[in-house]
Amino acid sequence: MRLTIFLLILCVFEYAVSVDHTKFKTCEQSSFCRRCRNVKPNNSKFALLPGTLNIYADSVTAELQHKINKHVFTLKIEALEDNTFRLLVDEKTPLKSRYRVTDALKSAPKPGSIKVQEGDAEFTITSGANKAVVISDPFRIDFYQNDVLTVSVNAKGLMTFEHLRTKPAANDAADEITDYGAWEEKFNAHHDSKPYGPEAVALDFSFPEADVLFGIPEHADTFALKSTAGTDPYRLYNTDVFEYILDSKMALYGSVPVLYGHGTQRTAAVYWQNAAETWVDIDTAEKNVVSSIVNFVSGSRKTDAPAAHFMSESGIIDVFVLLGPSPLDTFKQYTSLTGTAPLPQMWTIAYHQSRWNYNNELDVAYVSRKFDEYDIPMDTMWMDIEHTDGKRYFTWDQYKFPNPLGMIKNLTAVGRHLVVIVDPHVKRDNHYFFHHDCTERGYYVKTRDGNDYEGWCWPGAASYTDFFNPEARAYYASQYLPANYKATTTDVMIWNDMNEPSVFNGPEVTMSKDVIHYGNWEHRDVHNLYGHMHALSTFEGLMGRDPNQRPFILTRSHFAGTQRYALIWTGDNMADWGHLQHSIKMCLTEAVAGFSFCGADVGGFFGNPNAELFERWYQTGAFLPFFRGHAHLETKRREPWVYGEKTRLIVREALRKRYSYLPLWYTMFYEHEVTGEPIMRPLLTHYPKDKEAFAIDNEFLLQDRLLVRPVIEQGVKKVNVYFPAIDDKSNGDVWYNIDTLKRFTNVGYESIPVESDTIPVFQRGGTIIPKKERIRRASTLMKNDPYTLVICLNREGKAEGTLYVDDEKSFDYRNGIHNYIKFNFENNKLDVNPIGKLKYKTPAWIERIVIAGLERVPKSATLIIDGVSQELEVLPHGEAIAIRKPGTSVQQIYNIRLNY
Ligand code: GLC
Repeated sequence: MRLTIFLLILCVFEYAVSVDHTKFKTCEQSSFCRRCRNVKPNNSKFALLPGTLNIYADSVTAELQHKINKHVFTLKIEALEDNTFRLLVDEKTPLKSRYRVTDALKSAPKPGSIKVQEGDAEFTITSGANKAVVISDPFRIDFYQNDVLTVSVNAKGLMTFEHLRTKPAANDAADEITDYGAWEEKFNAHHDSKPYGPEAVALDFSFPEADVLFGIPEHADTFALKSTAGTDPYRLYNTDVFEYILDSKMALYGSVPVLYGHGTQRTAAVYWQNAAETWVDIDTAEKNVVSSIVNFVSGSRKTDAPAAHFMSESGIIDVFVLLGPSPLDTFKQYTSLTGTAPLPQMWTIAYHQSRWNYNNELDVAYVSRKFDEYDIPMDTMWMDIEHTDGKRYFTWDQYKFPNPLGMIKNLTAVGRHLVVIVDPHVKRDNHYFFHHDCTERGYYVKTRDGNDYEGWCWPGAASYTDFFNPEARAYYASQYLPANYKATTTDVMIWNDMNEPSVFNGPEVTMSKDVIHYGNWEHRDVHNLYGHMHALSTFEGLMGRDPNQRPFILTRSHFAGTQRYALIWTGDNMADWGHLQHSIKMCLTEAVAGFSFCGADVGGFFGNPNAELFERWYQTGAFLPFFRGHAHLETKRREPWVYGEKTRLIVREALRKRYSYLPLWYTMFYEHEVTGEPIMRPLLTHYPKDKEAFAIDNEFLLQDRLLVRPVIEQGVKKVNVYFPAIDDKSNGDVWYNIDTLKRFTNVGYESIPVESDTIPVFQRGGTIIPKKERIRRASTLMKNDPYTLVICLNREGKAEGTLYVDDEKSFDYRNGIHNYIKFNFENNKLDVNPIGKLKYKTPAWIERIVIAGLERVPKSATLIIDGVSQELEVLPHGEAIAIRKPGTSVQQIYNIRLNY
């Protein structure tokens, strides 16, 4: 027992004191990464076997051979709908099956159709405007769209596919894999038994049309990927890194292996569907000059195109090639494969107040009351691990929280919600029902010799539920039923943390790779999917608990497709300016990888922000999709009022601004679910020809409606905002400062003066944005409040926009119980029409319409509903005008004409 406590203290101490690079592998310290990286370019060992081509309606198969060891592989190339191809390579007769990821895709992709033309040394698959030219020897595939070479596979010849083999006798010269770590590896004190030996897969992808590569979160790095020449590759290996550093290619909590290449003419991407540890080398090909036309005419391929080399430890080669051509097309091709986040409840996109930990029920009541006292809106309070009985999840600490139901009721009575944490590690305590059941029923991840795997985490000795086991998943999901999860209600939502999984005493703070999951798969094969399966299980639990209430689950670990179940945050950041800046870069990258619902701990998790940083962080958080203040156990209290009046008012202002834009956020989340387009977008999404904008990651777009460039530097009196160009350098959009409605018409950097309460945000001319301006203590209380429309005109005097309204909570919207409204302004007239039917009954109405960008001030306005007209008052409104009280319902069809 004493040893146990000592070890626990040691582990927690180690976890909590130092940044430690030595805990994490470099590529050089990893046998498979070393092996894959050592493959020399332009000498591919793989060739198609003649006479093996089979042609089907939507796909072809052929056999590939390793020219030296003669091992044979099957190749399948499928054409899918939507300018997408899938490429699968596996061993023809492996010694045992190799792992295929089946949980990431939302459903089976829809097949396209093909025509195949065979040549002597190659064959061509045509599917619509796309073409894949498959070259036999050395094996390579060139993907063309409209005859423009867009993605090349194995153009550099870096392909690796290590077939499974029996272990050679020591010093067997016949085995071509001689790396000393091929059959067992040591890292620090950890031993990886590697019973199946070397089994890596790797492939390179070139993007001849690209100027910039981006994607493959999660890294605390710039949006535009950097060259890895002379550094480690970017690493994808879900890991709990203590005090992670910035501008780093080190792995973090999530792994989404989708990578985009973008240039002025087109965008394309590859999604490398592999859940094993993966490293990605990036060649940015700075000297890239050859044009696509030259490529096409000469039939040659560029060798200096930007390229990525994906290297995974095990599994198969399963890759989707997405041919765009626009950035939005490509983002949608990815989400059409892996899914989008379902529309969340309204309160989940409002403000969340968290801390590790609110001490007890009194503390929770105090914080909630203080928000009211200072008239600061707040929707949700969070319970971190200390709320449990000794880190036994699904229980409460009975001393600190003797009456959780009463506490929940106090919150819900004022429109607020509660979120509680449920981690995947399970305290090894025979008196704990969950541990007892998992042990009895065999639901834990197992060691190689069949025992329950044991590691260290928050509770001390812990085992880990095997979420790959459908029975374990069902058991875990059933724990969320109110009958099982005592003292919770169906309104309480869930936070899944530490699910990389974090194992304090494990290799690289995670699980040993040779432990065994359901189906006899090694952890090595499925590591990056563990958190995904945890989030899926929780999602199933919440759906089972209340099938008509939209679940809300925050997860730290994630993989491709996790966005269907949960949102993410960027983990344990620090209270410094660099981390504030990286919150934008990181969420932008997550957004193009399917995770629009992303945020960072506001204020910084570790450390104590000074007042200025704290204020600026709230201002930034107010325009990121997930908005939660959170802090480490040992930090000073930092609710919005603790810094004094000035800071309190600035933070209050930022929070109220967030609440005023909730109708826009909600509409964007609805449209995100329906279209698969990201909410938060890099500038290149809508300004794909403006090279200057490609790497910008200190400002971002919300859809194509707002441009956000928060103040994220210390002590500045002005910020440089970049207004992007639509085509060449001279033509841009018109932008309006959202506070003053001042117009900006130039392209390029504009210096904007800022005060401590300024958040530089601009509405694009040509858009209509719905807002609510009566801010209440929680968003749930604003449901029936009236709307304001802000119309910002473009150079032609036009604008358009949408508003989405429903019950903000249930799945009824999927049966069409909603109002989806289209606004159109043109020729001095606003037309309001439904998209579909107006089926959701609501008393909400429009109380004001602001119009910016008119050339002259109109005398009045006329509202026309069903042929009946009514005069409306027009007032000056800063640099714009406001139409007072149209009084129209959001269920009405009407138009409003300006009179001169
Ligand atoms: C992890 C989480 C952090 C949480 C803490 C205690 O460090 O990232 O947000 O507060 O665990 O649960």
